[in-house]
Amino acid sequence: MRAKLRTLEDLCAAAADSSIVLPAADVSRDGPLQGEGAGPVTILFGTESGNAELVAEDLARHLGDRAETRVVDLGELEPGDLDPARVHLIVCSTYGDGELPTNVRGLREQLLSERPTLVGIRYAVLGLGDRSYTRTYSRGSEMIDEALAACGATRIGEYGRHDAGGSSDATEVAREWADGVLAELSVRELVAR
Ligand SMILES: Cc1cc2nc3c(=O)[nH]c(=O)nc-3n(C[C@H](O)[C@H](O)[C@H](O)COP(=O)(O)O)c2cc1C
Repeated sequence: MRAKLRTLEDLCAAAADSSIVLPAADVSRDGPLQGEGAGPVTILFGTESGNAELVAEDLARHLGDRAETRVVDLGELEPGDLDPARVHLIVCSTYGDGELPTNVRGLREQLLSERPTLVGIRYAVLGLGDRSYTRTYSRGSEMIDEALAACGATRIGEYGRHDAGGSSDATEVAREWADGVLAELSVRELVAR
């Protein structure tokens, strides 16, 4: 029996559910499914000791068969590089006492002091951290999120977090997170048509 999907939340959950077998789609008529067609993807990483970069590179391989992907170090990003035509997936760790990785701090300061207009920029965030830092768990990712939002950019999808002290693998968590973000985006675009 087929259940009716009545709400956007139902549609998003169904799109992210890989156990649901969908009939072959005529994409030209029906549009994209399962995260395809969400647009080109820029994967931005902020890292101190390399984990976020490894995760970003793995994500590029994971998404490479369904999207044009680019991997960029947040430490080298200029706000003008952000592109409304692209989806930005941010993987960023926390260092020190709830700080951004060293080479990402300048970008945050630039965003907060210059306030470039980032309306139309879409980004999702996965914070890498360690839950044993109870007060500052993945706070660095939140700092870059807050700076982008202050400039008018729009966060999309679920806010992801990975606990380095836990048992889950960061690349697995990142893949699941990215699949969910892109599936939700595809469904939203289908609903908006
Ligand atoms: C010196 C140091 C300080 C850290 N401080 C925090 C912190 O305040 N909050 C947090 O959630 N994780 C903290 N972490 C954990 C890292 O964010 C986590 O190990 C992450 O996976 C590192 O990713 P990276 O190699 O990309 O920088 C810290 C780790 C170290 C070694």
